[in-house]
Amino acid sequence: MSPRESQRAAAAGRRPRGPDPHPDPWRDADGQTNVDEMARSLEARGRTPAHMRLRRRFLRFVPIGPGERVLEVGCGTGVVVRDLAALVGRRGQVVGVDASRRLLERARVLCRERARSARITLRVADGASLPFAASRFDAALAVTVILHVADPLRVAREMARVTRPGGRVGLQDQDFGVIAVTHPDRALTERLMRGVAERVYAEPHSGRRLPGLLRAAGLVDVRLLTDVYQDTTLEPWTKTFLERRAERAVGFGIVDVATAERWLEGFGEVVAADAFVLTLNYYGAVGVKPR
Ligand SMILES: C[S@@+](CC[C@H](N)C(=O)[O-])C[C@H]1O[C@@H](n2cnc3c(N)ncnc32)[C@H](O)[C@@H]1O
Repeated sequence: MSPRESQRAAAAGRRPRGPDPHPDPWRDADGQTNVDEMARSLEARGRTPAHMRLRRRFLRFVPIGPGERVLEVGCGTGVVVRDLAALVGRRGQVVGVDASRRLLERARVLCRERARSARITLRVADGASLPFAASRFDAALAVTVILHVADPLRVAREMARVTRPGGRVGLQDQDFGVIAVTHPDRALTERLMRGVAERVYAEPHSGRRLPGLLRAAGLVDVRLLTDVYQDTTLEPWTKTFLERRAERAVGFGIVDVATAERWLEGFGEVVAADAFVLTLNYYGAVGVKPR
């Protein structure tokens, strides 16, 4: 949706359900009118080569091995579940939970093929109150989820509870304080990107806070992996990401529609000059549950 279409939709009353929806759509995916678009965007990000690389690098860092029982909290459409299933193999088990019934419906379809060669279970659950007995998993992960939850410490503690002593809890998140993008209008870009991130996320610097979060949740031997999403060609997912930022900036009153459209057009010039760069820092933190 372009900034102008988005403004028209808002004026026509096509808003998310509920009296006062949280500005972060991932808090309540099922309450959004564009949940199918959100699902497509997760899959598009999942197949972007730079994202594939940094996700798999994080899974090696955790690490996840054959035969393990692994929980993914906030699994969305199952991008990470499918990676995990390949790593744990036939003897292992992957359980994905998500607060969104509709994203899980997509995940069930998209994981069907993988489920022929690995045990995959998908169920609706809140990461802040996991429906599992203590010490049930060898590892519990949350990938680009902590940024979106209301109470990150509660989720991290729940993940630690369901992990066995000696098992690992791994979190990976973006950090919207460390995003760089080439654009002819640097001041506008800064105002728009920072303005949207500050209004949407409770903690836009979520990534850098993950090691502290794991320690606060009682985990030990915490390690940090810093990685970067890098795009020099304006991949489809990056393009959608920038369009969504422009749309949100209009919605928040940071810029008007004409300015948002001019800003998006600015990327066209940069790409035409073969000068496009977007980098976004990702932080992966892993801790061990004490024995
Ligand atoms: C950005 S998506 C990440 C999905 C997936 N991990 C991936 O990397 O493709 C964030 C996911 O967290 C889910 N989520 C948000 N809050 C949650 C909560 N409290 N408990 C469980 N899932 C939650 C959302 O529904 C969404 O599927």
